[in-house]
Amino acid sequence: MKQSEFKKRRKQLMQRIGKGNLALISSATTHARNRDVNYPFRQDSDFYYLTGFNEPDSLAVFIPGREQGEYILFCREFDEKKALWEGAHAGLEGATTHYAADDSFPIDDLNDILPGMLENKSKVFYPMGRDLDLDHKLLEWINHIRRQSRTGITAPGELVSLEHILHEMRLFKSAEELKLMRRAASVSAAAHVKAMQKCKAGMYEYQIEAEIINHFLQDGLRAVAYPSIVAGGKNACTLHYTDNASKLKNGDLLLVDAGAECDHYAADITRTYPVSGHFSEAQKQLYQLVLDAQLASIDEIKPQQSMQLAHEASVTVLTKGLVKLGLLKGRVATLIKNEKYKQFYMHRIGHWLGMDVHDVGDYKINQEWRLLEKGMVLTIEPGLYIPADCKTVDEQWRGIGIRIEDDILVTADGHEVLTCDVPKSIADIEQLMQASHAARI
Ligand code: GLY
Ligand code: MN
Ligand code: MN
Repeated sequence: MKQSEFKKRRKQLMQRIGKGNLALISSATTHARNRDVNYPFRQDSDFYYLTGFNEPDSLAVFIPGREQGEYILFCREFDEKKALWEGAHAGLEGATTHYAADDSFPIDDLNDILPGMLENKSKVFYPMGRDLDLDHKLLEWINHIRRQSRTGITAPGELVSLEHILHEMRLFKSAEELKLMRRAASVSAAAHVKAMQKCKAGMYEYQIEAEIINHFLQDGLRAVAYPSIVAGGKNACTLHYTDNASKLKNGDLLLVDAGAECDHYAADITRTYPVSGHFSEAQKQLYQLVLDAQLASIDEIKPQQSMQLAHEASVTVLTKGLVKLGLLKGRVATLIKNEKYKQFYMHRIGHWLGMDVHDVGDYKINQEWRLLEKGMVLTIEPGLYIPADCKTVDEQWRGIGIRIEDDILVTADGHEVLTCDVPKSIADIEQLMQASHAARI
């Protein structure tokens, strides 16, 4: 991502904060996995969105109209020994020269310097309650200023949630962001295709996961956007199954939900296909029903429509289909009103997608479902999950779990499916899988 993009975001943020006020946000911290080993570091999405700075132990301050500079970065000082053991880090000089901070200070001096910056400011915008240490420090800094009130200095009177402003900005993806999201989507799509081609009975779920992650890594995307779900047979009925340890069997379906992260932007794709390359008749019927629901929901994605309409479209198609196939009994309207579909379709149609796989942004405004606008990205992912021990349905349906998930960009006059490169019609899936089986023989 270009520095100019981060600059543009900071400018937009400064305008929204307004002069006389201040915003601050801290970086993510490292977490120990065990002795001397940390979990892979992932920067806080909000912090990275504004700074592009990928180091822990940092804090950014934004002070619109400040004469000595509006953007101040507190970070680790350059340390040669640290560089030798852990690699490059920006240091105070790098913070200004490479990351365009107007000023930089050692993070160790935060308690000495920050209270001065808070003096005579009215509002402090910050991510309330997300970092208890920061919450605590901020109140201490404010109390420190209050104690000097007889000298005429005033302490901020209002603490405001920064997320409210920032998450609204993050909801609308710029052209630069969409470049990264398209890359995350296309690499993830290609990985799904590879997995589909490799899939055969006798493999373990983790071997399909390995195919997918191998493809991400070979393409330079080192992080998954979330732990991959590779669920054969009835494992697919566990929504967040991540054990990925069972053997794949002919006659079973395989549900794969996996996505890569590209420079902090996620893809989120699910496909479900037969281990053998052939859908059984029962699998075909349920699969086609989920696909019809997905296509009907995607059709609803356009400006001035709400995500709720897409959800309702999926509920209608699935409920009608479940009645037709005999899994639900009764009048469609009554079943929908009483939410009877929820025993087989218990999640919503999708979520915002961006830096976080379940991305930020309000879903309702003033208690009403918000309308879609150009530049928003969301997933559409209906599913059906028939528990293996469900005695109310015919045996042929039991233990089948199906989800089909794509990433959708809202455009000026409709939508674009960012993940359309992975086959999802029954004919296309069977053709791809059977061609690769034939090539193997
Ligand atoms: N992969 C998580 C989700 O689909 O929401
Ligand atoms: Mn999803
Ligand atoms: Mn998913």
